[in-house]
Amino acid sequence: MIDKSAVQNVLSNVMYPKFTKSIVDFGFVKTIDIESGSVSVVLDIPSAAPEVAEQLKEEIEKRLSLLGADVRLSIKQPVLPRETSSHGRNILPNIQSFVMVSSGKGGVGKSTTTVNIALALAQQGKRVGLLDADIYGPNIPRMMGIADKQPVFLGQKIKPIHAHGIEVMSIGSLVERGASLIWKGAMVTQAIEQMLEDIIWGDLDVLLFDMPPGTGDAQLALAQNLPVTAGVCVTTPQKVALDDTIRSMDMFKNLHIPIAGIVENMSGFICPENGKEYAIFGKGTTQPLADHYETEILGEIPIEPAIREGGDSGLPITVLAPDCETSKRYRSVAEKLWNTIVKVNAQGGVDNSEIQPEVF
Ligand SMILES: Nc1ncnc2c1ncn2[C@@H]1O[C@H](COP(=O)(O)OP(=O)(O)OP(=O)(O)O)[C@@H](O)[C@H]1O
Ligand SMILES: [Mg+2]
Repeated sequence: MIDKSAVQNVLSNVMYPKFTKSIVDFGFVKTIDIESGSVSVVLDIPSAAPEVAEQLKEEIEKRLSLLGADVRLSIKQPVLPRETSSHGRNILPNIQSFVMVSSGKGGVGKSTTTVNIALALAQQGKRVGLLDADIYGPNIPRMMGIADKQPVFLGQKIKPIHAHGIEVMSIGSLVERGASLIWKGAMVTQAIEQMLEDIIWGDLDVLLFDMPPGTGDAQLALAQNLPVTAGVCVTTPQKVALDDTIRSMDMFKNLHIPIAGIVENMSGFICPENGKEYAIFGKGTTQPLADHYETEILGEIPIEPAIREGGDSGLPITVLAPDCETSKRYRSVAEKLWNTIVKVNAQGGVDNSEIQPEVF
């Protein structure tokens, strides 16, 4: 007689492809039902790739059949975006979705937010890439602890660097450290296009872009070359940041990028001494804006010394202290973002064929 715990035990030894964590630990096993010697298992996985489901199916059926069970396995997957060739340009067809993280204003914590959302998504079992498209001030190599790593070239192409379980590439890893480059508009477009064409990413569920501040050529170049599935706007609660946030939200609209929501960063300070929360830059000021653009606040991330220390030391807080309150908030942001991605793809994906510089 097969019991549920035996099945659970078998499944907890099945690793999710390309990860070192099992499908049980990820929480992908939704139900296990046993009825007169037959086992029904339902999985819900984040990857839309048929080969991932195929690989899991083969392994699970093989392992469970050793228990002498008749196995019925159902694997739920998100819907793939529509064939991109029919609706605009996608020069990276092996990547299923793209997220642009933007802000109208510099220094609000875009890079920090992008890094921690990317890592939170990977902790939830997504195959993640992170491209530092901030050609003016690339910070991702330091934040991800890869400032001293040299990328590997394969002919004209570049392999991304693996760090903390995700694939990473930055313009900072490609130009000499400390080199100050002066970029003219056309050069920005060319640099972004070249980065998109020359990096050999693996098969990814999602690629996140850390953008330079503002609403300029880099954002336009990206949206013209890829169907950007979702935009995340990072802001701080000061009233003066709100005008810039409006510009950023309008940019998403003009670029036909579905808005996943706003991250209110540096939102309150939780005093480590007494646990009390202080609204240093204010708090909750972004809600009216989210309402106006019919979107949501994805999360409020407090000012926390460990966030800055994590950025400086190359060990982001979601890696250093995955169970702390702030890391939980990043994971909640990642979940809401993922829900938008799944919804947009299920509705057919994004059409970027009409984006013209003049409407931008
Ligand atoms: N919630 C936070 N708590 C504490 N420090 C933070 C927080 N968010 C960001 N920082 C720190 O603030 C500084 C600026 O953050 P970051 O570099 O992520 O901003 P940015 O918007 O990407 O800047 P830029 O516009 O220059 O690209 C960094 O030193 C970072 O560690
Ligand atoms: Mg930055």
